[in-house]
Amino acid sequence: MKALVIGGTGYVGSAVVRALLDHGVEVVSLSRSGRAFAGDAVQGDVRLPDLGLAPGVAGELHATVTHVVSCFGSVDWDAGPRLAVELHRDGTRSVLRFARNCRSLERLVHLSSVLALGRARGPIVGELELGQAFRNWYEYGKHLAERELRAADDLPWRVVRVGPVVGPGGDVAPSTASGVLAAVPYLLRGYPVHLADGGSFPCYPCDAETAGRVIARAALDPGDGDVWTWFDDTMPSLADLMTRLCSAWLVVPRIVSLPALAPLGRLAARRLGLPPELLEYADPWTEIPLKVLDQLPPDLPSCPAGYIEATGVALRDAGRREAA
Ligand SMILES: NC(=O)c1ccc[n+]([C@@H]2O[C@H](COP(=O)([O-])OP(=O)(O)OC[C@H]3O[C@@H](n4cnc5c(N)ncnc54)[C@H](OP(=O)(O)O)[C@@H]3O)[C@@H](O)[C@H]2O)c1
Repeated sequence: MKALVIGGTGYVGSAVVRALLDHGVEVVSLSRSGRAFAGDAVQGDVRLPDLGLAPGVAGELHATVTHVVSCFGSVDWDAGPRLAVELHRDGTRSVLRFARNCRSLERLVHLSSVLALGRARGPIVGELELGQAFRNWYEYGKHLAERELRAADDLPWRVVRVGPVVGPGGDVAPSTASGVLAAVPYLLRGYPVHLADGGSFPCYPCDAETAGRVIARAALDPGDGDVWTWFDDTMPSLADLMTRLCSAWLVVPRIVSLPALAPLGRLAARRLGLPPELLEYADPWTEIPLKVLDQLPPDLPSCPAGYIEATGVALRDAGRREAA
């Protein structure tokens, strides 16, 4: 078996590479940098024809790749329409075209996000198109990308949907540059943050390393044409997540349920560099019932205890190293 992991140098993709190697699969990572932490690497770009690969390299991969795992992209909630359309949708289309040329393809796995559901109201098990609106271009881009997969009737596709990925990581450390972790520096400054119901709603996080192992299983386990929604089965709320992320600094974030603070938060966010889009997540996210996990293979790994706190420790230690 030979897997092409597109985005294999990323926070999630690098964990997928390690997990596939542990299963004895030969792995080639594709990224614009052309690097690899483990296995082989090729340089490419999903926005280019044939993933930007040299003809000889593309031909060799078409002949030998049995599994494609697509975990390229960006988690930038502040990005514009180009990210949604050119990277997530068109990039996914290129991946599908590439996969169609892989003569021995057994499975194509696409890493999606629960945010691809936008403002859809739950309970949602595996549906995608629900006439919903989106909070930002990132959500819309992930929606468009997942839609491309689901329309690819001629391919053995599988979608894995996850929520915010945290955890100390392995080859790639967590970053506060984007996604839910971008809130951490703001929370550490002690600013009050408005979250509906004090943030008591679930936000479906998971651990990066464990996500890598689940995505590898999605590639290797039989079946296709299905959606695996996977998250921490202890269902931490958004307030839990933020509190546990900040525990490494012995800081308790000031989470309040005061809608009047939202406009203030928006102003402060701009001044302090917090992506204003983060504030859009102050209301309950899409409702995904815990029972979606029952549809997955029963022996999938669970997120390890303490992975959220360990994320804070990794961020804190990286900050100390930078300051030194
Ligand atoms: N992190 C999360 O919380 C989360 C949650 C749900 C879903 N996801 C999805 O998982 C994917 C990866 O997230 P991540 O957190 O692992 O991001 P990341 O750490 O930024 O990794 C992105 C990976 O994609 C590669 N890449 C970016 N643009 C590319 C291009 N044009 N062509 C080829 N490769 C490209 C990057 O390498 P180069 O820069 O060298 O090209 C890198 O290997 C995204 O699609 C994201 O939507 C992430």
